[in-house]
Amino acid sequence: MTMLPPEVARVFISEDGIRRRVHALAAEIDATYAGDVPTLVSVLKGSLYFLADLTRALRCRHRLDFMAITAYGSSQAHTGSVRLLKDLDEEIAGRPVLLVDDVIDTGLTVAYLTRLLRARQPSSFRICTLLDKRVRRISENLPISFVGFEAPDVFLVGYGLDYRQTLLNLPYIGVLRQELINA
Ligand code: IMP
Ligand code: MG
Repeated sequence: MTMLPPEVARVFISEDGIRRRVHALAAEIDATYAGDVPTLVSVLKGSLYFLADLTRALRCRHRLDFMAITAYGSSQAHTGSVRLLKDLDEEIAGRPVLLVDDVIDTGLTVAYLTRLLRARQPSSFRICTLLDKRVRRISENLPISFVGFEAPDVFLVGYGLDYRQTLLNLPYIGVLRQELINA
């Protein structure tokens, strides 16, 4: 039995479930980029744990680069306006780019990043997300090629996902207690 922190109502995906799915995703990505050298672009910090496991499970040669952003306003009800805190280190023109993210919720953040990165003319552009809250989507037609897990409209913590900057280091993905969401 896992002892859950008091904020966590239940485990959504176990440590073992995450590991197995990440390996399956890596195999899908390997097959897609056979013979190519994609640049995995990670959005700090939520996708850090996912990226670290995914990159080690991949067999294809690849590069890593990082962006850091912050949403204007509250993270619960944001508008898609995003401020870039850190841009990529490398040029991506002419290179295949795979954006690796933690959760796609409304999709507004990733829609903004998609516009930003496509303007630099990568040879291809795809998105890989650990979690997809499709029921909450506002931005349509995002090139989401790889999804770890479909998620319901609940607030998830652990494996990189934070609640007020903590709980991100839980090895599983948990569901935050409902009464804390707007507290
Ligand atoms: P979107 O622009 O609405 O798609 O917001 C996506 C971002 O909101 C994610 O990259 C996370 O940083 C954050 N987010 C959305 N849902 C959750 C959650 O359940 N737990 C933690 N962060 C979340
Ligand atoms: Mg994110």
